[in-house]
Amino acid sequence: MSNFTVKYDELTAEEFISLWQTVWGEGPSLEQTRLAMEHTLFRISVFDGDKIVAMARMIGDMGLDYYIKDVIVRPEYQGRGIGRMLITELLKFINDNGVSGTEIFVELCAMPDKIPFYEKFGFDSNEAQRLKLFIKPE
Ligand SMILES: CC(C)(COP(=O)(O)OP(=O)(O)OC[C@H]1O[C@@H](n2cnc3c(N)ncnc32)[C@H](O)[C@@H]1OP(=O)(O)O)[C@@H](O)C(=O)NCCC(=O)NCCS
Repeated sequence: MSNFTVKYDELTAEEFISLWQTVWGEGPSLEQTRLAMEHTLFRISVFDGDKIVAMARMIGDMGLDYYIKDVIVRPEYQGRGIGRMLITELLKFINDNGVSGTEIFVELCAMPDKIPFYEKFGFDSNEAQRLKLFIKPE
């Protein structure tokens, strides 16, 4: 990790989209992504020189609910501990900002093959299923 630069709350929409495309194909629109960055509670990004190699973000209401989104490590940089660092930083953000003495619910959505990665940090699943709907505003 020592050769990488870690940035906090600097992730741009352009960087987000370019990294997204390395793992998930066509990215979201620039306008949507700019809004999303603006309304994200906490963003973390990792750079190798000028190249963005990893990111993750936290959305939520700061009180009751925190939700981990868009954890991505560029494929050729996976397996070097960057993903662990991202999750550790996100959980630290909650620890630093959550209401002291309360129990805070942290959620995320993971594909089955990524569940063992999150289990390393104490996440587990319940019977609830994710329901989804795509809306196209007029
Ligand atoms: C999932 C992802 C973020 C992991 O990042 P990474 O940098 O490769 O992970 P790390 O090298 O920090 O690994 C941390 C630990 O998790 C383990 N791990 C990583 N991916 C794993 C997987 N898919 N299954 C089981 N264990 C995994 C590592 O072996 C390591 O274990 P250790 O610390 O006990 O040695 C990365 O694979 C990725 O970006 N994938 C594509 C995007 C994606 O699917 N994101 C998740 C959305 S839900």
